[in-house]
Amino acid sequence: MAIITFAQVKGGSGKTTLAKCTVAELVARGSSVAALDLDPNRPLGRFFASIPELASVEVAAPDQQHRVSTLVRELASRADTVVIDLMGAATNDTQVAMALSDLVVVPSQMSEEDFRGGIETWRQVEEAEAIARRRIARAVLMVRTASGAVRPRVEAFLREAYRKEGAHVLTAAFGDRTVWKEMSYAGWVPPLHERGGNAAENFAAIFDELMALLETASADTAAA
Ligand SMILES: Nc1ncnc2c1ncn2[C@@H]1O[C@H](COP(=O)(O)OP(=O)(O)OP(=O)(O)O)[C@@H](O)[C@H]1O
Ligand SMILES: [Mg+2]
Repeated sequence: MAIITFAQVKGGSGKTTLAKCTVAELVARGSSVAALDLDPNRPLGRFFASIPELASVEVAAPDQQHRVSTLVRELASRADTVVIDLMGAATNDTQVAMALSDLVVVPSQMSEEDFRGGIETWRQVEEAEAIARRRIARAVLMVRTASGAVRPRVEAFLREAYRKEGAHVLTAAFGDRTVWKEMSYAGWVPPLHERGGNAAENFAAIFDELMALLETASADTAAA
């Protein structure tokens, strides 16, 4: 069982897109998955309902009666993986969600604002780990990078800047592709509908790196 959260206080960084892809990838691999939607626009339920292969994925959202901690526990009792999509701001709910997570992924586009938000989010995950008093695996993911072989200087610069702040950046990056932008209205989801294609392979490489991080963290916890 794993709880995977997409967090970044900077809005529009790619959290929801990556949460959708992660759910689709898990479904494509035959794994049971549920989602918790903390994005105020509640995009996940609408998206899953529009894709036949994802229509049965359970999505919960907190309200006055349903606290984040209760919802996470309930979803985790019914699915092997719970994917949490946070809002682009820090709130009590985002802190609780992070403290309950096994892995937090911090998407960061190629901008100064995303870098600042990324570092702020990284510190929040460190704090969540101190609150939870257990290891929370975490990584920054570069988003909307040039998808060709040539990586522009800004990406190398930002990778180094994160490294200097002590943040781990995934080797794989989420390339800038129209298919991700159009996914929610085109109903075409590469991890489901075009496995083996460039976009799906790009996401699969990210997914594999995230699963390896989760495994390392749980081995460390078991050894502790
Ligand atoms: N790899 C990508 N290639 C092209 N477009 C992308 C990519 N990732 C995200 N986008 C686009 O960037 C925009 C913001 O993405 P998304 O909604 O996933 O961010 P978010 O972090 O969830 O935003 P918010 O903080 O508002 O919830 C969307 O229009 C999305 O389609
Ligand atoms: Mg979002």
